[in-house]
Amino acid sequence: MIKRIFAAMDFTGFEEFREHYKLISDDIVLCKVGYQLFYSDGEKVMDFLREEGKSVFLDLKLDDIPNTVEKGIASLSRRFKFDYITVHISGGSAALKAAQKAASESGIKILGVTVLTSLDKNDMLKLGGEGDIAEIIQKRVDVAKEAGIDGVIISYRDLEQGIDTGGLLKVTPGIKYAEEEKGDQKRVATPKEALGKADYIVMGRSLFRFGTKRLKEELK
Ligand code: C5P
Repeated sequence: MIKRIFAAMDFTGFEEFREHYKLISDDIVLCKVGYQLFYSDGEKVMDFLREEGKSVFLDLKLDDIPNTVEKGIASLSRRFKFDYITVHISGGSAALKAAQKAASESGIKILGVTVLTSLDKNDMLKLGGEGDIAEIIQKRVDVAKEAGIDGVIISYRDLEQGIDTGGLLKVTPGIKYAEEEKGDQKRVATPKEALGKADYIVMGRSLFRFGTKRLKEELK
């Protein structure tokens, strides 16, 4: 079993999900469920993954006032079995602490989103964020540490640039094989590179395009 790779199940509806799930389920234990799948057939998918005994990362990137975040996670944890959930660090320390409070009783780990990789320095300036993106990311990571959440979503570029994550779990998306087109992504890492610095990586399109055989070769 491959234990440090989250398969991003970015599909619409249960049938499309299950077709792809079959391709990876013998090898991968961690599954990430995001907006696309959760908002199309979430209940069915979550119940299915629970029966399959998979570890689930519910990538709902919550962002609201502390009370709403806390009650939202409490409701989700009553209804579903999952192991990780994302919360935006930009919601502030109190919201992160509220998330942690709701999650800790059920052993769910809170992962903080620092800055979406789709935003650049210009976007951040327009939004009122002064300074370098790396500085903003470091500040947000520090807020995550102080709030006592479990981990952060962090790009390989940030890890390379020396963002200090202390004891937080590091979960890294933006992964492609060396032979793939980089597309519009400025800095992507291969699975092997990223696993040299991150605790876990997230793979979606590349995983399903090349299959688990290619992944096992990479990890040899
Ligand atoms: O690009 P790929 O298909 O591997 O993306 C997998 C997952 O990682 C997606 O579900 C997406 O939400 C997340 N992702 C991210 N930040 C990035 C790239 C992808 O959070 N920079």
